[in-house]
Amino acid sequence: MLMNMKELLKVAYENQFAVGSYNVANSEFVRVVIEAAEEQNAPAIIQIHPNEIELLGDEFLAYVREICHRTHVPVVIHLDHGGSVEDVMRAIRNGFTSVMIDASHASFEDNIAVTKEVVRLAHSVNVSVEAELGTIGSNEGSSEGGADEILYTDPEDARIFVDATNVDTLAVAIGTSHGQYKHSGKPELKLDLLEKIHEQVDIPLVLHGGSDNKDEEISQTYLHGVSKINLSTDMKNAFFKEMRTFLSENTGAYEPDVIMPSARNAAKEVVKKKMDLFNSTGNA
Ligand code: 13P
Ligand code: ZN
Ligand code: NA
Repeated sequence: MLMNMKELLKVAYENQFAVGSYNVANSEFVRVVIEAAEEQNAPAIIQIHPNEIELLGDEFLAYVREICHRTHVPVVIHLDHGGSVEDVMRAIRNGFTSVMIDASHASFEDNIAVTKEVVRLAHSVNVSVEAELGTIGSNEGSSEGGADEILYTDPEDARIFVDATNVDTLAVAIGTSHGQYKHSGKPELKLDLLEKIHEQVDIPLVLHGGSDNKDEEISQTYLHGVSKINLSTDMKNAFFKEMRTFLSENTGAYEPDVIMPSARNAAKEVVKKKMDLFNSTGNA
């Protein structure tokens, strides 16, 4: 069943678990996430980045919406890293139930101004809004961007920002980066900073860059206000790693129904493990 983010995350926030938000870039990944969610009896968020929308085309979004409608567990369709009011309006027109406006690279005042405008537009049609304060890191190969240098979220600014904008969820920078940490190894998350932000801000927080972190740190985040964890790289890597192996062992293969299932299953196993890690398994 399709829901908006605010309703879904309220339950997660109160019960101290996180809902995984998975970047889907084609129908295989939609199926991976929906099947994993149904098998684990876990809620899930299908998120689509503007680059992924560009790849898919608007017509495909109607298909995603239809699949989410038919699903037995709670599902949200969310715009990941909307860069402008235009991105947000395109998502809303296509039936998304939640949007992110990411003006984290702008000044504090400009971030507040554009976020307020998006909140006004989205709330008028019952769509929830995520904004970002501070900037998370960026690793090579990820299309979601980020900053070379992480700008950690300031707890006092977070409180002022949330009061001024009335956003439903806030993405915070506590040490993660988009993509895989190739050279530097897994990061240390600033869990003490997360606690301080959580003391100041009484709305569900969002952790971006959910891939390739220490499991024992991830499982602390939802005890301190994180109710949504964005996950892209670990799932996509599992899919394409298996596909590369399959294709090199079956050099004559060309039928999708022969090639896709093993890749899909490899990605699904990763998503199911993440649902366990986020403590969302059994919480649909
Ligand atoms: P990862 O690619 O590190 O999982 O990050 C995903 C993300 O934050 C998408 O917004
Ligand atoms: Zn992100
Ligand atoms: Na990451």
